[in-house]
Amino acid sequence: MSKIILTGDRPTGRLHVGHYVGSLKRRVELQNSGEFDDIYIMIADAQALTDNADNPEKVRQNIVEVALDYLACGLDPAKSTILIQSMVPELTELSFYYMNLVTVSRLQRNPTVKSEIQMRNFETSIPVGFFTYPISQAADITAFKATTVPVGEDQMPMIEQTREIVHKFNAVYGDTLVEPEILLPDNKACLRLPGTDGKAKMSKSLGNCIYLADTDEDVRKKIMSMFTDPNHLRVEDPGEVEGNPVFIYLDAFGTKEHFEEFLPEYEGLDELKAHYKRGGLGDVKVKKFLNNVMQSVLAPIRERRKVWEKDIPAVYDILKEGSEKAEKVAAKTLAEVRAAMKINYFDDGALIREQAEKYK
Ligand code: TRP
Repeated sequence: MSKIILTGDRPTGRLHVGHYVGSLKRRVELQNSGEFDDIYIMIADAQALTDNADNPEKVRQNIVEVALDYLACGLDPAKSTILIQSMVPELTELSFYYMNLVTVSRLQRNPTVKSEIQMRNFETSIPVGFFTYPISQAADITAFKATTVPVGEDQMPMIEQTREIVHKFNAVYGDTLVEPEILLPDNKACLRLPGTDGKAKMSKSLGNCIYLADTDEDVRKKIMSMFTDPNHLRVEDPGEVEGNPVFIYLDAFGTKEHFEEFLPEYEGLDELKAHYKRGGLGDVKVKKFLNNVMQSVLAPIRERRKVWEKDIPAVYDILKEGSEKAEKVAAKTLAEVRAAMKINYFDDGALIREQAEKYK
């Protein structure tokens, strides 16, 4: 069986370092591993509209931003198909059929949807489209017969929902769809990178993100004013590394090579942490190191982004070609789904003969 990847992002803002370390970096590695027959990366504009119905301009503007971030990170249109969700209308039709296989109470139990409803204060005014987006996500995944979905842990309920739909569909209509596996990030610090203010999640509204498109000066400022251990007031004080964003970022981004290059007086992160815990290591020194680490990770990304920014029409061409290619694949799956569901009336010679027979 072929190995096929599908994953994606909602275009509601530029991508930040949390996206990079949690998924983009891995995607590029998977792309370059040569282990996959097909890779689809979806800009999920229709899903973004499920909670931004009144703000289509935001979604429209951010499509190219997300595409630029993808290309900047090293996603290569020759190896990965980058597509826009709404440009593949087959996905909408699949969603509509899958809706019959999912109960309202099952959707209500989805923990990610639950917490998103709370965050957005939807309470009693939940848009139906938003409520059902896990079903549309199942369509995204199954349309391409994806076997592997590399996403963060918050997406686990969506993949479970997809697997249930696949099970049910195949049981009711016969083997048609492929059950996907989730592929979680392997470095624990990458599961959820906190904001620079120490808050659990990076979010544009909190202003606590480091974006891939930030200038080196922006990045430096954000790092030098990052939240650390609030009880570590003087250099001599013992400090806490658990839950300290500066150390979480070092866990996520720092390598042995970074120590050799920027902080050779330490063996590695364990030794740096031990010094901080014991006391005698100041925040400024750790932050300067983190700045060097982040700059060396982000510089090549920023440079590649600048190159693509000079040719925006080419970026749209990539999205158009990717969407067209994706639509062909989704159309094939949709035809199989319709045949399995016996709603392929005009392609079914046997049906026509049978009905004709009845009236002879
Ligand atoms: N839900 C994902 C997000 O919030 C985006 C997404 C849409 C997606 N469809 C997908 C991810 C299919 C993986 C597979 O960013």
